[in-house]
Formats: sequence, C-alpha cells, structure tokens
Amino acid sequence: MKVVILKDAAEVAKYGADIFIKQIKRKPDSVLGLATGSTPVALYKELIAAYQSGRVSFKNVSSFNLDEYLGLTGTHPQSYRYFMNQQLFDHIDIEKSQTAVPPGDAEDPFSACEQYEHNIKQKGGIDIQLLGIGRNGHIGFNEPSSSLMSRTRVKTLTRATIDDNARFFGPDEYQPHLSITMGIGTILESKKVVLLATGANKAEAIKATVEGPLTAACPASALQMHEHVVLVIDEAAASQLADVDFYKHIEMENQKLLERLGRD
Ligand code: PGA
Repeated sequence: MKVVILKDAAEVAKYGADIFIKQIKRKPDSVLGLATGSTPVALYKELIAAYQSGRVSFKNVSSFNLDEYLGLTGTHPQSYRYFMNQQLFDHIDIEKSQTAVPPGDAEDPFSACEQYEHNIKQKGGIDIQLLGIGRNGHIGFNEPSSSLMSRTRVKTLTRATIDDNARFFGPDEYQPHLSITMGIGTILESKKVVLLATGANKAEAIKATVEGPLTAACPASALQMHEHVVLVIDEAAASQLADVDFYKHIEMENQKLLERLGRD
C-alpha cells in the first residue's frame, strides 16, 4: 500500500485533489467514486478552486457516491445527495444527471442496490474511488463484520457510527439507522483508491488498515488486496503506525524516481 504522510489536513486535501485533477486531465470522461463525511470537504474545496481557476473541467465526468441514508430523500439536509450538491456539484460544471448517489427514498431498496451495481458496470466501472475511514475502520457504510466480497446493499449502522454522525442531526430530528452502501467488493473493483484520513482519532483505524491483518473486523484492511491504493494521511492519523520513517522514505524515493523519469 502506498502511504503518504503529510503535515496536516490542508496538505492532505491538496495532495488528494491533485490526484483527482491529474486523473481527469488524463481521462476527461473519468468515472469518479465520491465520499461524504467531514474529511473530503477540504478536498472538494480544492477541486472547486481548481475548476474556478480553469485548471480542470468536470464537463464529461460522471460520479457514483459510496452511500446514502435509507429513509431520507435527496432534498433532506442530512442526506448525502444534498451534501454532495452543497459541497461540490453546485459549484463545478459536472452534469448533475451524471452524478449518482444511492437512492435513500427507493420504494424497493433491494432492487435499487442491484440497479446501482448495474449502473456502475454500464459506465465501465469506477476509475478512481475516494474514501474516508471511520474510527472503527469502516469504508462507506461497510461496518466491521461486513463481508470482504460484499456488493451494494442495505446495511445497518453500528451504534458507534450513529453516535459519530448524531452531531449532524437536530435533537428531535429523525436519524436513520439503515443505509445503502457500495460493498467492499464493489470498492475493490475500482481501478484506483484514494483514502484520506486526518486527526488522531483515526490513528488506530489507520494502523489496523496498514499494519493489521486482513480482517472483516477492520473493513478498510481489505484495501491491502487492492493493486492501486494510496492512503493520504496527516501526521496525527499516522501517529500509531510502527514504521512511519519507512513510509516516508518510500514516498521520497518514489518522488525522486518520477522526477528522474519526468512523470507526475
Ligand atoms: P469523517 O467520516 O470524514 O466525517 O471522519 C469518515 C467516514 O465515516 O467514512
């Protein structure tokens, strides 16, 4: 796994955004896998700034989001569709009709999951998937014990995730306990994966992801099986890794090699 350790959250957002910008420049009709949560927000700000300064266009890009609360419509302020519109889509030139978020208001959520998988395949698969990580190692809403081969499905949230996300809901507001999420198998099929983590509260999950065993107890550890995955993390999120110097050394050597070859 490629582990890039940077000073702080701002550097993580910049580095992560650059990966996406390069991808879109290389392939203007890229299929992006996108994520919600607080960590990607700064990366989305970087993408918006890059669009506004003419560095990148999303005109031919399409996207699939990882997950959505079951029981919320896209106009609900806590829905992930609403979040994506607010944080990214409304500020760039992407065609909204080309942006997909699992339908939280589907009449038949089970067939909606199958349809979501089908739609990803129809687009030729996801070129690059952005991920955050939960304190418990979840990716998307694939909570610990999720099958490592799982596909898009209805998933019950753990108490820890409900508590972590309670801050976004008002005291009397309905907070869903169910979600639709891409599966770990779905995520592993994307051609590239970029996982962002910042802050000391992610340090344990990052250690389990990089240096722990491959286990459903830490869903992100499944990324050890992926061919092209990069973890972009800050010093705080890296603070429990046993071999920080080694990862920094590898990244430095990689950069030197790329410079020598004139590649980015
Ligand atoms: P966060 O969420 O970015 O808000 O910490 C990450 C996640 O739960 O995937």
